[in-house]
Amino acid sequence: MKHLLSINDLTADQAISILDTAKELSKVSDGAMKKLPTLRGRTIVNLFFEDSTRTRISFESAAKRLSADVINFSAKGSSVSKGESLKDTAQTLQAMGADAVVIRHGASGAAQRLADSGWISASVINAGDGTHEHPTQALLDAYTIRDRFSELQGDFQGLEVAIVGDILHSRVARSNVLLLKKLGANVTLVAPPTLLPVGVESWGVSISYDFDQTLVKSNVVMMLRIQGERMNDSYFPSAREYSRSFGLDSVRLNMLKKNAIIMHPGPMNRGLEISADSADAGNSVVLAQVSNGVLVRMATLYQLLAADQNSEMRM
Ligand code: NCD
Repeated sequence: MKHLLSINDLTADQAISILDTAKELSKVSDGAMKKLPTLRGRTIVNLFFEDSTRTRISFESAAKRLSADVINFSAKGSSVSKGESLKDTAQTLQAMGADAVVIRHGASGAAQRLADSGWISASVINAGDGTHEHPTQALLDAYTIRDRFSELQGDFQGLEVAIVGDILHSRVARSNVLLLKKLGANVTLVAPPTLLPVGVESWGVSISYDFDQTLVKSNVVMMLRIQGERMNDSYFPSAREYSRSFGLDSVRLNMLKKNAIIMHPGPMNRGLEISADSADAGNSVVLAQVSNGVLVRMATLYQLLAADQNSEMRM
């Protein structure tokens, strides 16, 4: 595997292998945060055209724990047109000898474009392209689910997952649907009709407009951020109205199944899609998602850059 652009680039076995590698890494990461020499001498560039806190820091931390050199390239605010700026930047990175480029971009397809361009020889990892995909987020979410439901043997057969909220603008939802289905989970999307994309019927998941009904049967409730920055229209009557119908509030928190977990990719709009008590509840795994993100990104970098050379991981 050279690039990770979409969950479609992975077979179920390859996805599980990344999760297994991350699990192995968790054993060395626990406690002392030991640094591994695996990517010594390799250069990883974080190329971020869009704001990000946790994803960029997560990739940076993952690369550093594998002893790679990291360059953070924040390309926001560039005045050159998107296509050209991507090309110029890519050529600069190539000249710097980048081994992997982690790209986040506002345009869907940007990561693919970079990988296909011939401008660089580096591996490309999609860290979020427009409303299209965010594969490492889906992998870290799957890792977190597997970690919490240890009775699941490798696959996710029988697991009921609700993905709730702004599906329309969410690359996290798209990547999660692809991966969760690949692993055998049953996915239900819950949203007002205005926040569902055209053609969602073909995604092979259930659709519900009734959060309460879906909530009581779900093992995993994944809340999505209302992505105000991608909305140039009014998608719901008011924030209050949205929260009442689709927010995870205190009342719904008490309706959750025993052992059900609450997820959110962050950043959270507390009080809009998720109440503070739900975000901080004992069954919320929001912070575990963040820590697991580093492990899953280490595993991804390992698989893309080192797995061929090292038959065994050097620890
Ligand atoms: C997500 C993203 O940027 O797509 N956040 C993240 O990567 N942690 C989701 C979001 O912005 O709502």
